[in-house]
Amino acid sequence: MVSKALKSLVLLLAAPCALAADLSLPVELFSPLVAQKILATANTVQNPTKYPQYTDRVQGVWQYFVPDTWTSGFFPATLYELNRRTTLCAADVSAQGLNGTDWVLLGQTWSAGEVPSETNTGVGHDVGFLSFPFVDELQLHPENQSAITAVNDFANHLAGRFDPAVGCTRSWDTPDPTDFEVIIDNMMNLEVLFVSANLTGNHTLIDIATSHADHTAINHVRPDGSSFHVVEYNATTGVVVSKFTAQGYANNSTWSRGQAWGIYGFANMFKHTQNTSYLETSRRMAAYFINNLPDDGVVPWDFNAPLVPPRPADSSAAMIAANGLILLSQGELSLSPPNKTGSDFYVDTAIQIIANNTALAWRPSWQSLLANGTVNNPEANNLTGIVYGDYYFVKNANDLVDLGVATCNGSLTGTLPSAPSSTSSTSSVSSPAATNTGGVQAGAARADAALDMTR
Ligand SMILES: *[C@@H]1O[C@H](CO)[C@@H](O)[C@H](O)[C@H]1NC(C)=O
Ligand SMILES: *[C@@H]1O[C@H](CO)[C@@H](O)[C@H](O)[C@H]1NC(C)=O
Ligand SMILES: *[C@@H]1O[C@H](CO)[C@@H](O)[C@H](O)[C@H]1NC(C)=O
Ligand SMILES: *[C@@H]1O[C@H](CO)[C@@H](O)[C@H](O)[C@H]1NC(C)=O
Ligand SMILES: *[C@@H]1O[C@H](CO)[C@@H](O)[C@H](O)[C@H]1NC(C)=O
Ligand SMILES: *[C@@H]1O[C@H](CO)[C@@H](O)[C@H](O)[C@H]1NC(C)=O
Ligand SMILES: *[C@@H]1O[C@H](CO)[C@@H](O)[C@H](O)[C@H]1NC(C)=O
Ligand SMILES: *[C@@H]1O[C@H](CO)[C@@H](O)[C@H](O)[C@H]1NC(C)=O
Ligand SMILES: *[C@@H]1O[C@H](CO)[C@@H](O)[C@H](O)[C@H]1NC(C)=O
Ligand SMILES: *[C@@H]1O[C@H](CO)[C@@H](O)[C@H](O)[C@H]1NC(C)=O
Ligand SMILES: *[C@@H]1O[C@H](CO)[C@@H](O)[C@H](O)[C@H]1NC(C)=O
Ligand SMILES: *[C@@H]1O[C@H](CO)[C@@H](O)[C@H](O)[C@H]1NC(C)=O
Repeated sequence: MVSKALKSLVLLLAAPCALAADLSLPVELFSPLVAQKILATANTVQNPTKYPQYTDRVQGVWQYFVPDTWTSGFFPATLYELNRRTTLCAADVSAQGLNGTDWVLLGQTWSAGEVPSETNTGVGHDVGFLSFPFVDELQLHPENQSAITAVNDFANHLAGRFDPAVGCTRSWDTPDPTDFEVIIDNMMNLEVLFVSANLTGNHTLIDIATSHADHTAINHVRPDGSSFHVVEYNATTGVVVSKFTAQGYANNSTWSRGQAWGIYGFANMFKHTQNTSYLETSRRMAAYFINNLPDDGVVPWDFNAPLVPPRPADSSAAMIAANGLILLSQGELSLSPPNKTGSDFYVDTAIQIIANNTALAWRPSWQSLLANGTVNNPEANNLTGIVYGDYYFVKNANDLVDLGVATCNGSLTGTLPSAPSSTSSTSSVSSPAATNTGGVQAGAARADAALDMTR
C-alpha cells in the first residue's frame, strides 16, 4: 500500500521541476480583522476574571470561563503572538491594524488573572497550556521574576502528578486513585517541563517529560500512526487497564485534535532531545493525519466518524496539526544532513491544510476568527469558534513569516526554509535563524506535492 504522503514524496523526488499548480496562502491570515477582533475582545474586560473559550453557534459570541479552565492561557498567548507579529511584520503594522496597541501590556494584563492557578491544585493537569503566556513573557523579558515563578510553579505542579510506576503524569483525577488516566493531549504539557528545567537546571523535569513521551508513544499511538485518546493505567502496577475515548467518536477511533496534539508534541520532543525516535513518531502521526484527510482537505472532528449525517469539521484540529507539521518540518531540517524533501513536504501540507480549512471556517461577522470548531461532539458542542483554533491560526501565520515562507501581505515567497546555519537542533520556529535558499525548484516541488495531496 502506497500512502498519499509517500506518493507525494516520490513525486517531490522524481519531478522537482514539474509544472505546478499554484499553492497559495489564504489572505485572511494577515487580514486587519485579526487585530481588530482580538483587540475588541481584549478591551471587553480590563481586569479579566473570565476567559474566552468558545463561541455560541449562531452569532459567534465568546463564552467566558473561570481562570482555572484549561483554555485560559490561549487568549493572552494570542496577544503575545500579535506583539510578535509587530516585529515580524514591522512594515505592515498599520496595514494589519496592529499599530496603536501595546500588545505586550495587554498580554501581561490578561495573564495576570491566571496567577492563582499556578499553585491551585484544582487546576489539574493542563498546566502546559496555562503556562504559554508566561513562557512568551520570558522570551521578551528573561529576567521577569514573576514569569519565572509562574513557569516553575506550573512545571512542579505537573511533576507532582508523575507516577514512577506508570511512567506518566496523571491527567484527570478519578475517584479510584489506582485508576490512572492519561490523554494524548498531555504531550503538549511537556514544553513547560523543558522551559523550567532550563531555568532551574533540574534534570528530573526532563526525565519526567521523556518518560511520559516514551509511554505515550508505546501505548497511545497505534502501529499505523493513529492514536487513542485515553489510556488507563493501574497506578499501583503500571499495567495498561484499558484504552478508550472521551471526546472522540468511538473507543477505537482517532479523534483529530488528539492526533494533532500528538504530531506537535512528538515533534517538540525531538526539538528538545534530538532523539530521532520522537521524530519518527511525529512522522507516523502526521502520515496518518494527512492520508486520512478527505478530498476537500477539511479536517473532520474524528477520522472515523460516519460520513452521514455530515461530520462536523474541527478547524482547531486543522490549525494545531498545521502548526505541528511546521514544527516537524523544522525537525527534518535540523537533521544532519538536513532532510529538505521531508521539510518541504510538511510545510506544503501545512499551508494546504491552513488554506482549505480557512476557506471553510473564516467568519468576518463572528467575534472569533474562525468558526467550524468542535469542542466536544459527544457533548453536542460543535460548530463554534474556539480560542485555541484562533491562537494556532495566528501562530501559523507568524511561523510561516518567521521561516521566510510567507510575506506579511499573505503571499508565498517561493522559497522554503533551509537548515539554520548553526546549532540547528535547538532552533525553534520562533527563532529567526532560518534563511532561505530553497529557490524556484523548491517552490515548484512544493506545489507539486500540493497537487498530489488531494487525490
Ligand atoms: C494606524 O495607522 C493608520 C495609518 O497610518 C492610521 O490611519 C491609524 O489611525 C492608526 N491607528 C492607530 C490606532 O494608531
Ligand atoms: C512580568 O511578568 C508578569 C507575568 O507575565 C507580568 O504580569 C508583569 O507585568 C511582568 N513585569 C514586568 C516588569 O515586565
Ligand atoms: C526537581 O524537580 C522535582 C520535581 O518537581 C522536585 O521533586 C525536586 O525537588 C526538584 N529538585 C530540586 C533540586 O529542586
Ligand atoms: C490496580 O491493581 C491493584 C493491585 O492489583 C488492584 O487492587 C486495583 O483494583 C487495580 N486498579 C485498577 C484501576 O485496575
Ligand atoms: C534556555 O535558555 C536559553 C537562554 O535563556 C534560551 O536561549 C533557550 O531558548 C531556552 N530553551 C528553552 C527550552 O527554554
Ligand atoms: C530515544 O528514545 C527511545 C524511546 O523513545 C529510547 O529507547 C532511546 O534509548 C532514546 N535514545 C537515546 C540516545 O536517548
Ligand atoms: C467505550 O467503552 C466503554 C466501556 O465499555 C463504554 O461504556 C463506552 O460507551 C464506550 N464509548 C464509546 C464512545 O463507544
Ligand atoms: C472499531 O471497532 C469496531 C467494532 O469492533 C469496528 O467495526 C471498527 O472497524 C473499529 N474501528 C477502527 C478504526 O479500528
Ligand atoms: C485545498 O487547498 C489546495 C491548496 O490551496 C487547493 O489547491 C485546493 O483546491 C483546496 N481544495 C478545496 C476543496 O478547496
Ligand atoms: C461549518 O459551519 C457552518 C455554520 O457556521 C455550517 O453550516 C457548516 O455545515 C459547517 N461545515 C462543516 C464541514 O462542519
Ligand atoms: C525525510 O522525511 C521524510 C518524511 O518524514 C521521510 O519519509 C524520509 O525518510 C526522510 N529522509 C531522511 C533521509 O531522513
Ligand atoms: C453537533 O451538535 C449537535 C447539538 O449541538 C448534535 O445534535 C449533533 O448530533 C452534532 N452533529 C453530529 C453530526 O454529530
